[in-house]
Amino acid sequence: MEVSKNINNVQQTVLKMKREGRMIGIVPTMGYLHEGHIRLIEKAKTDNDFVVLTIFVNPLQFGESEDLNAYPRDEKRDLDKAEELGVDLVFLPNEKTMYPGPLSLNISVVRRADVLCGKSRPGHFEGVAMVLTKLFNICQPDNAYFGKKDAQQVAVVDALIEDFNFPIRLNPVDTVREHDGLAKSSRNVNLTSGERMEAPSIHQALEFGKDLFCRGEKTAGKIVEQTRQFLEARTHGKIDYIELLSYPELEVIEEIDQQVILAAAVFYKKARLIDNIIINKDGCITM
Ligand code: PAJ
Repeated sequence: MEVSKNINNVQQTVLKMKREGRMIGIVPTMGYLHEGHIRLIEKAKTDNDFVVLTIFVNPLQFGESEDLNAYPRDEKRDLDKAEELGVDLVFLPNEKTMYPGPLSLNISVVRRADVLCGKSRPGHFEGVAMVLTKLFNICQPDNAYFGKKDAQQVAVVDALIEDFNFPIRLNPVDTVREHDGLAKSSRNVNLTSGERMEAPSIHQALEFGKDLFCRGEKTAGKIVEQTRQFLEARTHGKIDYIELLSYPELEVIEEIDQQVILAAAVFYKKARLIDNIIINKDGCITM
């Protein structure tokens, strides 16, 4: 396994792979790998000849009051895991490498970003779009892997690939959960033990909302309200949002007549957790 912090080295390696006709898969991450990331890497291994894992805690996507410094890191453990999983190249740049000076350009995400996490984290998806544009250009992948846990991110990456004509196929991967239903997240380690006990109620609330739909409720507002009540009764965490929107367009709807997302974000003392469920008109598809 090659490990590189250097853009030129990575570009040379992937160029060589491309000349040899190898299919390249990229798994962008911020490290502190858990089973969610691992599922993405395994999927990339199955589909491609050469898998690039990127690990970079991207300051551009963190707001001023957010948890950039509290973001957990463990480089050695991540590299051991990557090696075990058969990753071919780990790109592990530092901040100076990715952002050597002030940027002259920025990307504004003008659709799919003013709701859900985009609304509570202004500039977040601009930061994600910028770092992914760089990573796509550096690593030249044929396939890119993203988790459906961050369903809004998947919707924004879908738009990024479409609008900028990246010759990349987007592969969304199902959310990996703990046994009690809590979506795996690097931020779960920042929960107190009491918070950890309550946190599965986020997933339970979304399942409850989905069941309302499956039993015939089609009014978005009613599903959101009852989901909120369910969750408020089961956690002390502060609900940032519960929203039901069309997916992947992420537009406000009143009656459910197309594929939708029911998503929630909850603030705990040192972690903000998100989760979602995709609800499909012809049945209930969970993500
Ligand atoms: P990070 O939070 O490290 O997540 C990396 C990838 O793992 C994302 O695509 C995310 O959706 C996926 N993932 C996280 N938890 C998951 C779970 N429980 N099940 C399945 N997939 C899961 O998302 C980012 O980093 C950054 O925004 C990034 C795309 C790297 C850009 O900086």
